[in-house]
Amino acid sequence: MKIAITGKGGVGKTTLSGTLACILSQGYKVFAIDADPDMNLASSLGITEPITPISKMKDLIKERTGAEPGSSFGEVFKINPKISDLPKSLSINYDDKDNLKLLVMGTVDKGGDGCVCPASVLLKALMRNLILKKDEIVILDMEAGVEHLGRKTAEAVDLMIIVVEPGLKSLETAERIKRLAADIGIPKIACVINKASNETEEKFVIEKLKEMDLEVIGSIPRDENVILADMEGKPLIEYPDSAAFKSIEKIAESILNKVKD
Ligand SMILES: Nc1ncnc2c1ncn2[C@@H]1O[C@H](COP(=O)(O)OP(=O)(O)O)[C@@H](O)[C@H]1O
Ligand SMILES: [Mg+2]
Repeated sequence: MKIAITGKGGVGKTTLSGTLACILSQGYKVFAIDADPDMNLASSLGITEPITPISKMKDLIKERTGAEPGSSFGEVFKINPKISDLPKSLSINYDDKDNLKLLVMGTVDKGGDGCVCPASVLLKALMRNLILKKDEIVILDMEAGVEHLGRKTAEAVDLMIIVVEPGLKSLETAERIKRLAADIGIPKIACVINKASNETEEKFVIEKLKEMDLEVIGSIPRDENVILADMEGKPLIEYPDSAAFKSIEKIAESILNKVKD
């Protein structure tokens, strides 16, 4: 099962991705992939030591593609680097449990549209491998764009979740993501509402999503425990009685059901 989590910056993608990864890893093997330029999935898993993103592993990129990262235009390098061993060797085991692994992709400075540079070739190949070849559950914490995913990879994403919050901005982003996802061939899309403080706010979002013909699979209330967990550098799963955690548990269940049918 491959799930991509997207949405406007700050809506709660990382909180949802990290918490879902923790919950699902209680019954399945899970790869949590940080593919957002604003990398902080590790801290939502309670990992505080610094992690070098794969995009900054210069020696590795050179070894696998045959070219220096950021090398000049026109340099010849392998566009099909060997990467099948990398998910295992580069992933960080969370809490020494073998069921949950984290991979931090990092970003590539883009030189215009459709940049083909050694680092992006390596990241794309890695993403393809994780999504097409692995049996594990893969949870992608992504930025609002879907350009990391080639068409083949996108088609293999079982569910794309768009996180939205009360307000027009994240809804506009959702609309844009919906279009991009359809263009690139992602089969299923659903929304999670986050940070609603009351019923009025939640209803507002539900109505708007209905107009946009987007399904809602859950709602996470605004909850100070999320902020508390963030301040303490702890994963939300350590606050199992919090309203936010409980609602993400329900979302995990809905996702499992949804992907099954
Ligand atoms: N349900 C919630 N209640 C309160 N604060 C939240 C909630 N969800 C997320 N936050 C806070 O909002 C901020 C952004 O969340 P984050 O998950 O990092 O968003 P994103 O990954 O989309 O940028 C964080 O400081 C987080 O603690
Ligand atoms: Mg984030």
